[in-house]
Amino acid sequence: MNLSINIDHIATIRNARGGTEPDPVAAAEICERAGADGIVVHLREDRRHIKDKDVRILRESVKTKLDLEMGANEDIILIALEVVPDLITLVPEKRQELTTEGGLDVVAQKDKLGRVIERFHEKKIPVSLFIHPDRRQIDASKEIGADMIELHTGEYSDAVNETEQMRLFKQIQKSAVYGKSIELGVNAGHGLNYGNVARVAEIGAIDEMSIGHSIISRAAFVGLERAVKEMLALVKK
Ligand code: PXP
Repeated sequence: MNLSINIDHIATIRNARGGTEPDPVAAAEICERAGADGIVVHLREDRRHIKDKDVRILRESVKTKLDLEMGANEDIILIALEVVPDLITLVPEKRQELTTEGGLDVVAQKDKLGRVIERFHEKKIPVSLFIHPDRRQIDASKEIGADMIELHTGEYSDAVNETEQMRLFKQIQKSAVYGKSIELGVNAGHGLNYGNVARVAEIGAIDEMSIGHSIISRAAFVGLERAVKEMLALVKK
């Protein structure tokens, strides 16, 4: 099982002050040094976290794999075609949402998404589609030429009780096995954290998980004591 780290929220913290710290490029280097198999960034229409410049620099600096998450908007498509990341993950995007809320409705947008996939394939960029664990969406993804699917684990992660979580887990497991059986790469992500990831990590049909918020949140706490001590050493010298 591979793990790719979404570093969007390093940029969220940076943008809170409008300066250069913390730098997502430095964050990507730390993730790779720690053993991450890839780096994920979402270039949103409103550029609320990752900016165009970040993507261009990361293209040069990331040594593992750069996965660019994006909505299928022309403006972003043109940037992606120029940058040529190692993987494109297409997601639905609404301006007002706090994070990617749902999966793509591939069934309803076969023609449009199929044309976008073709444009990326012309540049030899593989494409993954972020979808709910639903067989119709998996079949439609295969039909329009997706290389991979990323199964949305958000509902599983937000489940209110164990019975519900188990039901949603089984959907993910069944979808992963089905996706693999029709020769799609299978990724999974959204909302995964230190408490709910283990079960998903045991699904052999999943190639890779994409995790961001829980890791960046934990990093703040794991690193806080050291950061305070370093500042105290300067202040109380
Ligand atoms: N996968 C996709 C397609 C996403 O949109 C996101 C959130 O940007 C993630 C994975 C990571 O989700 P989280 O930050 O909740 O780990």
